[in-house]
Amino acid sequence: MYRKIQNTFGIDVQADRVLEYSTEAELRTIVPVLAGDSVLHIGAGSNLLFTRDFKGTVLHSGIRLVEPVQEDANHVWVKVGAGIVWDDFVAYTIARGWSGAENLSLIPGEVGASAVQNIGAYGVEAKDLIEWVDCISLTDGSSRRFSVGECQYGYRTSIFKTDLKGQYAVTYVTYRLTKQFIPHLDYGNLRSLLADKPELKAADVRRAIIDIRRAKLPDPKQLGNAGSFFMNPVVSRMKFDDLNALYPQMPHYEVENGVKIPAGWLIEQCGWKGRSLGQAGVYEKQALILVNHGGATGADILRLCHTIQHDVAERFDIIIQPEVNIL
Ligand code: EPU
Repeated sequence: MYRKIQNTFGIDVQADRVLEYSTEAELRTIVPVLAGDSVLHIGAGSNLLFTRDFKGTVLHSGIRLVEPVQEDANHVWVKVGAGIVWDDFVAYTIARGWSGAENLSLIPGEVGASAVQNIGAYGVEAKDLIEWVDCISLTDGSSRRFSVGECQYGYRTSIFKTDLKGQYAVTYVTYRLTKQFIPHLDYGNLRSLLADKPELKAADVRRAIIDIRRAKLPDPKQLGNAGSFFMNPVVSRMKFDDLNALYPQMPHYEVENGVKIPAGWLIEQCGWKGRSLGQAGVYEKQALILVNHGGATGADILRLCHTIQHDVAERFDIIIQPEVNIL
């Protein structure tokens, strides 16, 4: 039986069993077999850190259907199987002249996880494009469709990570794309990078985003990692004013409930960028990313995580929290 658990950190880890299903009907037949077992539903394993073998069943979706289901003058709705590689879906939309997802180009992982994790980059989040999410209950096999409101989306979170954690498997996500391209260029230097493009197209934005990501983020095939390891913390306005007086050059973004500070900057200030603890390291070009230099265990990476958390708390009095799920 297949037991190795795929994960982009490149950690050698096994489950009691790993099951992949390719249709909703097949998943329904699996559900009763899971009764009493610990179950972990994974995507591409690009947001997971395993610190031990998993005692139970790992499920993976092999649902790879994609079909446009609705359209009007301005939009098209596409129902996408959870097992489709996220960036393959983005490429599919761009090839058909549908836009909206281009800023999310090259994010690792699969479509199911995009809706659980509310993936985001360069000023756009999955929730901005999701219409509804189809699920199957892992308790009784029943189907349920969640509207985007019911998913309770927030920064890298949803009801599937909180109140309903572990209770549903996402089978399809219906994304709403636009026929007319509306660029979102307000993040970082995206606008200036694309300034010389006449008649900007979604494909140009996709290309620029791919170039930025390739320059800054390590390819997991070459260097194990799970993207941003920590979330960017949000601090109160008062706390921000105190910090800003000490560090006037600190990057920051105004958000609804306070001020967001890039954890990558905090970690770099603590001297961790490019440094390692054994085989676990902080990526040299982006301090928010922890990497496996080869043969690191999950425990090694967790030790580095704790050390960084401690140093950031000591220096800035801010607790940074992992974005990656630690198991
Ligand atoms: N920064 C530093 N040092 C570093 C890294 C960043 O000073 O080592 C500063 C940068 O100079 C910049 C700011 O921090 O002023 C923000 O950096 P960047 O644009 O690289 O983005 P981020 O906040 O580090 C977030 C997401 C990424 C997403 C990018 C672009 C989170 C946890 N991460 O990173 O998402 O690609 O913005 O939108 O929100 C992921 O979730 O796995 C991920 C890669």
